[in-house]
Amino acid sequence: MERQSKVTIIGAGNVGATVGYSLAMHGTCHRIVLVDRDEERAKGKALDMSQAAAATRSHTIVKAAKDYSDIINSEIVVITAGSPRLPGMSREDLLMTNAEITKEVILKVKEYAPNAIVIMVSNPLDTMTYVALKAGNYPRNQVIGMAGILDSARMAHFIYEKLGFGAGQIRATTMGGHGDYMVPLQRYSTVAGIPLTDLLKTDEIDEIVERTKHGGAEIVGYLKTGSAYYAPAKSTALMINAILTDSKQIYPCAVYLEGQYGFNDIVNGVPVTLGKKGAEEIIEISLNHCERELFRKSIDSVQVLIDILKEKKFLD
Ligand code: NAI
Ligand code: 2OP
Repeated sequence: MERQSKVTIIGAGNVGATVGYSLAMHGTCHRIVLVDRDEERAKGKALDMSQAAAATRSHTIVKAAKDYSDIINSEIVVITAGSPRLPGMSREDLLMTNAEITKEVILKVKEYAPNAIVIMVSNPLDTMTYVALKAGNYPRNQVIGMAGILDSARMAHFIYEKLGFGAGQIRATTMGGHGDYMVPLQRYSTVAGIPLTDLLKTDEIDEIVERTKHGGAEIVGYLKTGSAYYAPAKSTALMINAILTDSKQIYPCAVYLEGQYGFNDIVNGVPVTLGKKGAEEIIEISLNHCERELFRKSIDSVQVLIDILKEKKFLD
């Protein structure tokens, strides 16, 4: 009998539940397990999603975990557990709260689903990916942060808004950390294969780059009581699909660097191929002097947070 694919989502809040709903509607996997410290929330959302799956005649079964033993044999574990970013709150403000939650959760994941590929979503994203990798003592390929697909989608949308045409034909590329120091790459962004620089003036591209960097905060400003979740969830679902189908699609993801791009012992967003083994290959694209400098600043901004965790003896 075909092996049943199982995905666990820890944190059944806005992002986690929307990831589950997206997977269930597309029949991406056979079983979804929702874990939340608010058990009633996980139960309610699992029931609601299961009924949506029945309505759409999807084979996906969604269940709330009674305890962590229910995550055994998961191929993928998505971690969205944490506090969302609230108005006026930087991603960095979330650092200690979410680092503690991440450590607590990853130790359980390591115990019950040690072979699962872990997709981190909680913020600050690059640092939480580092915390999960170190606290769980994982190899580089097994823990992957979601941000680059989202940031690139935001950039693509802002390019469309500026141009007024080309929706669906825009390929935007970002790398670097998920924060104010992300690196939108205009040289690697195209509309129907046409370089962005042939379509927009420098100051227009600069506006797009700035808006992309603050794309998350723009939505927080409107929602007021939470942050974005539709595009984050879709971006996560794309990663899950690539891993489950072993498709080797290239996506920008936050991964642990071991000498790539000249950096070591740090997590940052770079293009990777996603397959059964997680982040399989890191692709080293050529960067000009200015892009390399922006990437270095992005690395530094993550290092600052890791250093805070080390000073507080949270990390070795
Ligand atoms: P939310 O507040 O709607 O959901 C978080 C859920 O985590 C809640 O249901 C809460 O009960 C649960 N939770 C908290 N501690 C837990 C624990 N120890 N064990 C199990 N469950 C626990 O928040 P939302 O909007 O879903 O965001 C989740 C995280 O994802 C936040 O840190 C947010 O900043 C981040 N995020 C990251 C993005 C990215 O691009 N990487 C994009 C959007 C959000
Ligand atoms: C976002 O970019 C808050 O990181 C989250 O929407």
